[in-house]
Amino acid sequence: MSEQTALLEVNNLYTSYGRIPMLLDVSFRLREGEICTILGANGAGKTTLVKAIIGMVKADQGTIQFQDEDITSMPTHKRIEKGIQVAAAEVGTFPKMTVEKNLRLGAYNIKDQKLLSERLEEAYESFPVLKDRLQQKAGTLSGGERTMLALARAYINKPALLIMDEPSLGLAPIVVDEVFRIVRRLNQENDMSIMLVEQNVVKSLGVSDYGYIIQKGQIIFQGDPDQIHESGILDNPVMS
Ligand SMILES: Nc1ncnc2c1ncn2[C@@H]1O[C@H](COP(=O)(O)OP(=O)(O)O)[C@@H](O)[C@H]1O
Ligand SMILES: [Mg+2]
Repeated sequence: MSEQTALLEVNNLYTSYGRIPMLLDVSFRLREGEICTILGANGAGKTTLVKAIIGMVKADQGTIQFQDEDITSMPTHKRIEKGIQVAAAEVGTFPKMTVEKNLRLGAYNIKDQKLLSERLEEAYESFPVLKDRLQQKAGTLSGGERTMLALARAYINKPALLIMDEPSLGLAPIVVDEVFRIVRRLNQENDMSIMLVEQNVVKSLGVSDYGYIIQKGQIIFQGDPDQIHESGILDNPVMS
C-alpha cells in the first residue's frame, strides 16, 4: 500500500434509514490517482455509501474528508463544485431531452463557453456512439449508450473524483469491456481518481489499484487486487 495522499477519506461512518442502521463504522481511503473498488452483494450498502459521500444520505456519526476538507455536512451541490461527480446511467440524465442538451446541462459548472465547446468536441470524438445520436432523446438510448452518456458527462467536467455506481449492471459483456476501457482511460489520461462500485468482481478488480469488500453495511476486507483474490473471500457465498 503506498503512502500517497488520500483524496477521499471516510472515517467511522454510520448511516441509517429511519431507525434501521445501514452503514456501520465504515472507514476507507481513496488515494489521489487511484482506481478503488467497493465490492459487495446486492443490498450490502454500496449505493448508500455513494449517497453518503455525495451528501444524499446523512452521516449519523463519522467524517468524510475530501482534499483535506471536512465535507461531512456540506450540501450536495457544493460537493459537486468541489470536484466529486457520480456517473450512473440513472443519475442526472433527463430522458425527454436530447443527448446534446443532457451533455450541456451536465456541464453547468463550466462557465467559459469556449472551454465548453472544446470539451464537447473532445467528448464527441471520444464517444462516437453519442455523436451519432446528439439530437436523439436520452430516454430512447440503450442501457450501454446511457452509461456512455454518463461517462461523457464525466469526461467533459473532469472531476477530481469520479464515482461510478455499478456501471456494468445490465450491459452486454462487450459493452462492459468498453466501459472498463474508458474508466481506465479517464484515470490514466485525464488524471481522474475513480471510485468504482461493482458486483462484477473480476472486471472491476482487473482495472483497480485497491479494493474494499462491504457486507451488511460493514467493510469486512481490504487489499490490493492480488490480496483480495488470494484471500479466498470472493468464494464466500455472501459475495454472490
Ligand atoms: N431509501 C431507503 N429507505 C430504506 N431502506 C433503504 C433505502 N435505500 C436502500 N435501503 C436498504 O438499504 C440496504 C442497502 O441498500 P443499497 O445501499 O442500495 O445496497 P447496494 O447498493 O449494495 O445494493 C438495502 O437493504 C436496501 O433495501
Ligand atoms: Mg446499489
